[in-house]
Amino acid sequence: MVATEILAAHFDVVAHPTEHGRTEDDMITLLAEADGAIVLLSDPITRRVLEANPNLRIVSNFAVGYNNVDIDAARQLGVTVTNTPGVLTEATADLTMALILAVTRRIVEADHEVRATGRCEWEPLKLLGASLQRKRLGIIGMGRIGTAVATRARAFGMEVTGVRSGDDIDELIRTSDVISLHAPLSEATHHMIDATALSRMKPGAYVVNTARGPLVDEDALCDALENGRLGGAALDVYEHEPSVSERLLRMNNVVLTPHIGSATDEARNAMARIAATNVARFLSGTEPLFRVV
Ligand code: DGY
Repeated sequence: MVATEILAAHFDVVAHPTEHGRTEDDMITLLAEADGAIVLLSDPITRRVLEANPNLRIVSNFAVGYNNVDIDAARQLGVTVTNTPGVLTEATADLTMALILAVTRRIVEADHEVRATGRCEWEPLKLLGASLQRKRLGIIGMGRIGTAVATRARAFGMEVTGVRSGDDIDELIRTSDVISLHAPLSEATHHMIDATALSRMKPGAYVVNTARGPLVDEDALCDALENGRLGGAALDVYEHEPSVSERLLRMNNVVLTPHIGSATDEARNAMARIAATNVARFLSGTEPLFRVV
């Protein structure tokens, strides 16, 4: 692994298998005696974890989002936190565009049909989807990734409206045909797409989320999908990862991918390099490349 190679020249490295569902107690055990740690976005780095490991001086998150880390606690306890911005922008924007196309053109349903029947019958009214031409894409979170999605969407003939995190989203919600989420997860953005927001969306609108699952109230989203208010949803992230709602699994008008926004060779290698370099620089007394706190 790239990260181990970078670090092993100067530090003792203990590599733990990549696992989902590591608990606070697991993290306390795994990080005992560590001076620095590279952690995944599913690893809970809570105040309890930080307090239980007083040796730990740097937490290097292998992601751009860092909602899994208690930033206030890290600041108070003098623990440095770093992330990996920039290198996954294009990969995540590409996946977002792929999901917008997949859900509006019903690509997954079409694929299932061909596999199930072993046939390709052309029919005038089969699997009709929605054109993107002149449709309005509302981007919530016009940071690096949101801006890169806007560039792609304009090339497909979409009109783009974007708001930055923290801006009022009401007009965007009411006027967009497709809403794509790119905001960081925080207390302020948790369930920003709730039942009220969903009820204000245009009938037949689509919701796309490649950011963080809890931005959306997933039960309310399922209600809006089941009662036909929304045209569909494309989700790369889920409110209760690693679990995915049974209701979503049963629906045809949703496209579901397993948090693969940054999953290209190029992006993941670059993230690994940055995550390791952040630790190596910090523990050698140099400023890390990307400090959150
Ligand atoms: C991130 O970096 O925050 C992404 O969700 C990982 O792909």
